[in-house]
Amino acid sequence: MIVNFKEMLEEARSNNYAVPHFNINNLEWAKYILETMQELQRPVILGVSEGAKKYMGGFLTVRKMVEGLIEDLSITIPVCLHLDHGSSFEVCKEAIDAGFLSVMIDASRFELPKNVEITKQVVDYAHARGVSVEAEVGHVGGTEDNIYGDNYQATLEDCMALVQTGIDSLAPALGSVHGLYHGEPNLNFARMQQIHDALTIPLVLHGGTGIPYDMIQKAISCGINKININTELQVVWHDAVSEFIKENPNIYDPRKVIGSGEEAMKDKIRELVDVFKTPPCNNIGECNII
Ligand code: 13P
Repeated sequence: MIVNFKEMLEEARSNNYAVPHFNINNLEWAKYILETMQELQRPVILGVSEGAKKYMGGFLTVRKMVEGLIEDLSITIPVCLHLDHGSSFEVCKEAIDAGFLSVMIDASRFELPKNVEITKQVVDYAHARGVSVEAEVGHVGGTEDNIYGDNYQATLEDCMALVQTGIDSLAPALGSVHGLYHGEPNLNFARMQQIHDALTIPLVLHGGTGIPYDMIQKAISCGINKININTELQVVWHDAVSEFIKENPNIYDPRKVIGSGEEAMKDKIRELVDVFKTPPCNNIGECNII
């Protein structure tokens, strides 16, 4: 069942754990993630970037594909299908109109008043349709969908201003970057804790790849309830597939080539869920189905 993230993340905030957000790129990504999370009986958020939506065909294709997998694979855990880094009101509206129950509006590239104005427009449209909204303030550095961003850390004042829009979760940029880190990540835990203490909504950590596990757990203890992972699954899949092609140069069936990365991805998902301390669904009521 596709749900929005509201209850999922509020539960996570009350009980100090994080729900994984894994970006999906294609049918296989969605299938491997759903199968693993069903095996583990944990809730999951499937993130779809604008680039991934374009690659797969469109929001409707993605929604119907995920719904089809849920039915065909008898998936019973709560699954949130979420637009990741929607760049405008129009893109968020397109996702919502195609049946997404969760969107992120990322207007963090604008000055704060403009970020607030666009985010509010998305919140009004989304909430009228039962859709949850995440927004970002400050800049997460690094590269996503080939778009490079500089790092600028959110302040408590920035966060308070954005929360006035009625958003359901907030991604304050606090030193994490998208993609691979060069050197040790430098997360501002003191600011994270300060923002968590001052607000009542769940916080989101973008750029989860490459953050040492002890730092991830510290971030959870400072109030992070959703952790976004994209590159890490791509890297383990790529390494396994590269090895397979090297060892089997004459196998060209795409199902075998693409599928040779399946176990590596599933192992990494199991490992991350353990680090995030996400409890099994039966420990969190009726899997928070809305
Ligand atoms: P990584 O690619 O660094 O894991 O970041 C993913 C992300 O934050 C998606 O929004």
